[in-house]
Amino acid sequence: MANILIVYSTTDGHTRQICERLKQVVEEHNHKVVLTFINDEPDIDLDPFDKIVIGASIRYGKHRPQVYQFIRKNQQKLECRPNAFFTVNVVARKPEKCQPESNPYLKKFLKQISWQPRNLAVFAGKISYPKYTFWDRQVIRFIMWITKGPTDPQTVIDYTDWNKVDDFGRTIAEM
Ligand SMILES: Cc1cc2nc3c(=O)[nH]c(=O)nc-3n(C[C@H](O)[C@H](O)[C@H](O)COP(=O)(O)O)c2cc1C
Repeated sequence: MANILIVYSTTDGHTRQICERLKQVVEEHNHKVVLTFINDEPDIDLDPFDKIVIGASIRYGKHRPQVYQFIRKNQQKLECRPNAFFTVNVVARKPEKCQPESNPYLKKFLKQISWQPRNLAVFAGKISYPKYTFWDRQVIRFIMWITKGPTDPQTVIDYTDWNKVDDFGRTIAEM
């Protein structure tokens, strides 16, 4: 039985939901999983964990600064254990942009950090217009209009492929 830490960065909670599903799958393989919000525990000690997973969503083209800080601070400890990283964004709803090799945010991110995660995944996120502030809603609707996505301000749509999340959960259990 391995002791696995999943650290996540989220704004609207969707990445946390993905992490909860990963936890469920990994625990079915008889491992122990601790889920941690990066903002709550930026200084968490990685020593007690056998494997580390980091998941982060994209907002206005970027992962949040806390993600970079966490990786910089813990790079050595990450590298000496099985590890994984996943990103969540709505560009990944497009089949040609939903793989680690084809998702522009993940590609850029990997060039910005010196840690090279051993396992990678890209998940399409969620659009929830009613939940956003007025300006966020307008900006995202405009981006969606350009990229031929939904623009109705009442739209709530989950693009996540949950089978793909389950597959990644099995990868984490076995890595
Ligand atoms: C204000 C805002 C900005 C966003 N910017 C981007 C973006 O630049 N590219 C993208 O693909 N998705 C973008 N998204 C979509 C989010 O990545 C998606 O909603 C994701 O599910 C959010 O995950 P979270 O709830 O864990 O933060 C944005 C969403 C919001 C609300």
